[in-house]
Amino acid sequence: MKALILAGGKGTRLKPITNTIAKQLLPVANKPILFYVMDQIAEAGIKDIGIVISPETGANIQEAVRDGSQWACEVTYILQDQPLGLAHAVVTAREFLGDSPFLMFLGDNLIQGGVGDFVKHFDIQSPEALILLKEVLDPRLFGVAELNERHEVVHLVEKPKEPKTNLALVGIYLFTPRIHEAIAGIKPSWRGELEITDAIQGLLDAGREVRSHILSGWWLDTGKKDDLLEANRVVLDDLLQRNICGYCDGDSQLLGRVNVCNGSRIENSVIRGPVSIGRNCSIRNSFIGPFTSVGTGTTVEDSWVQNSVILEHSVISRIDRLEDSLIGKGVHLRKSDDRFKSIKLFVGCDSTLEL
Ligand code: G1P
Repeated sequence: MKALILAGGKGTRLKPITNTIAKQLLPVANKPILFYVMDQIAEAGIKDIGIVISPETGANIQEAVRDGSQWACEVTYILQDQPLGLAHAVVTAREFLGDSPFLMFLGDNLIQGGVGDFVKHFDIQSPEALILLKEVLDPRLFGVAELNERHEVVHLVEKPKEPKTNLALVGIYLFTPRIHEAIAGIKPSWRGELEITDAIQGLLDAGREVRSHILSGWWLDTGKKDDLLEANRVVLDDLLQRNICGYCDGDSQLLGRVNVCNGSRIENSVIRGPVSIGRNCSIRNSFIGPFTSVGTGTTVEDSWVQNSVILEHSVISRIDRLEDSLIGKGVHLRKSDDRFKSIKLFVGCDSTLEL
């Protein structure tokens, strides 16, 4: 069994932050999403991993994941010249995949509990495809599955205007090499992409067995700002342990599940978990509230922050109330005018905002 991670695309829905960072490398609880994906694949016992990258962000991804030895895996990078769809990515990776069955994992998706059990089921039951489904509020944004009364998949549609069910296709799939024949039989969709959803429908049309599993745990698809904040919330809530490595003075309080990494200093501040503070941060005269992640080397002074993700090497100064915000790397955010009380921001990297 091999794994194929799709880490291309332009991250259009997360611009401007994705002008400088690949969307798969955006941090959730201070760890890139792609690293959780690598963890889950390695935990499932798969050692041979292909990562499909784009010309725009490929170097960024290679620099972060390197040769995969951190996960005791071997990584092969595959360049997809243009974002022509998930099935096109599989075609691009054909040489790497050979005739092996494979787990395909979208590099900005995460599920609770990992993929080990699905890989086992796929091995034992050996269908041509195993897809994961999750009930969602707005299925029009996803591929959607229709099941019959025996819970068998009968029909799949990519982003239907009038969905027949609320069962979305999660971006994690298991395939036998039969999928290559199915991909050869599809045409680009209305959005000009070769859709993996259409290829799986092709398997169904050819009478091949496609199994499905409906997820009961969380599924995170981190394509937009609010999705990323939601992912940060869920992962902090589910996985964060209290661990204080940095320095905390006697005038500060660290309440609940707070993680402070090496080299960070907390002075005259209150931190109410779950909160993750990266390495070499400085938090002074501030309140950091639940569901916040602060990246390496960031300073927060005389401020109040909650439910936000702040990337590396930023400075947040004299902000009365910063919430529900995603702040890029190297951002300087300072307030000099008292009219602004509460602010909600989505700021790309290397910006300065004087309010
Ligand atoms: C892709 C798939 C879609 C699936 C979704 C999951 O959508 O085409 O079927 O539901 O991933 O994240 P895209 O992200 O390309 O819009």
